[in-house]
Amino acid sequence: MPTLFPNTTPENPLGLDDPTLFIQASIINGEHITRAATFVVDDPATGNSIGTCPDMGVDDVRTAIDTAHSAFQSFRATPPLQRQAYLTKLHSLILNNADDLARLIVWENGKAWPDAVTEVAYAASYVQWFAGEAVRQNGEVIAATANRSFVIKQPIGVCALLVPWNFPIGMIARKVAPALATGCTAVVKVPSETPYTNLAFVELVHRAGVPGGVVNVVTTHKHLVDVGKELTTNTKIAKVSFTGSTRVGKILAGQASTTLKKLSLELGGNAPLIVFEDADIPTAVMGTLASKFRGSGQTCVCANRIYVHESVYEAFATALAEKVKLFRAGPGFADGVTHGPLIHKAAADKVVQHIDDAVARGARVMAGGRKISATLLEPTLLVDVAPDCLLTTEETFGPLAALIRFSTEDEVLRLANASEVGLAGYFFSNDADRIWRVAEVLQVGMVGANTGVISSALVPFGGVKESGYGKEGGREGTDEYLVKKLVVMGSRV
Ligand code: SIN
Repeated sequence: MPTLFPNTTPENPLGLDDPTLFIQASIINGEHITRAATFVVDDPATGNSIGTCPDMGVDDVRTAIDTAHSAFQSFRATPPLQRQAYLTKLHSLILNNADDLARLIVWENGKAWPDAVTEVAYAASYVQWFAGEAVRQNGEVIAATANRSFVIKQPIGVCALLVPWNFPIGMIARKVAPALATGCTAVVKVPSETPYTNLAFVELVHRAGVPGGVVNVVTTHKHLVDVGKELTTNTKIAKVSFTGSTRVGKILAGQASTTLKKLSLELGGNAPLIVFEDADIPTAVMGTLASKFRGSGQTCVCANRIYVHESVYEAFATALAEKVKLFRAGPGFADGVTHGPLIHKAAADKVVQHIDDAVARGARVMAGGRKISATLLEPTLLVDVAPDCLLTTEETFGPLAALIRFSTEDEVLRLANASEVGLAGYFFSNDADRIWRVAEVLQVGMVGANTGVISSALVPFGGVKESGYGKEGGREGTDEYLVKKLVVMGSRV
């Protein structure tokens, strides 16, 4: 198998086929903006610097907002077919540059090459879906009164889009694509950990023909709090979409409430996964692997609390351990690596803390368990985990599967719902009555019944409780960027 490590040179330090996709600048009004003050971006596999980006402050973000606001005055009137054409072109540009986009993801996020390639395809699927949505935003005529009433849909305005580091192209795609589809403009605040894939995506937005000023990117690190405050309080911003922690989501929601902006919040998960006694074990194993270990466990929808019925506990644990032992942790570009490093040392330390806490309360390591470097951990399976250990109340956000025993459906549903967050939940059962019953009782926004894979551009993604509100993807993902306006037309008939 050929090595996946890019062929780097001083002129092309990330070894891209198209080195112009490596942009170390913010993008405002279609132009690359640099500043004397910069921050460094690291490769999580080595801790080595891979580049810098301008550390922008409040004045810069105001310029970006003013630019997006002025671009909105004309972009809002772009014909839907034109917006669809932009997105269709963007979709093909993403596919044509898929290797470079995947390289950027591995360089700055660390995820393993197969995961990065899958993420690029996932991002492209959102762009493709919203290209279709661009021409489907019809209103309604209500004829039940003497007057004739119409409901028309209009773009909401300038959107502040705050994207996370765990899907460096997936999350910007599912926020920017509906903004473009509906005629909105945007200021995107990209994470300091993974700015380059986001910047390359916006470069492709411009290559697809979208006018400068419609999508602007602000890179920041030291001024993060002030930039976040400006984006959520500036009166020219109509909508805020944020993916990240519940703690930060609450701060942003408080700030946005001062001007009553429309908000979409996709926050923390702590997903329960339940293997009932009537589950098909191979299906449950595959579903658990898919949900738990995607992106080295760094997704909001990763299973975090895995409850297994006592009668199938040993069989499930043995079958899962066999698979987990086949995983290979290493640098994302290394051949055969299935799981890359975590984003920071602190992220890896948290997983170790969860392992140590569970072991101190009687858990046993059945696979993995070793810390290979500051950021790299072996995918790990713990058994005999106590139901009150740290990982049941805190999202691990790492490659740790911890199996907790249960005896009855009532007991496990009580445990599963005993969380202040509710993004995703999974369960495995072959009993049709139970499937409906449990799916309805789980207090989450998304349920995987006999599957660990729920995410798709075609369906609404979002949570309940302190996992936030609003949906991304599906028809609902378009509605988030639109306002419905009633027009009542007087009639003398
Ligand atoms: C996330 O972790 O924030 C998104 C996961 C997904 O889209 O499946």
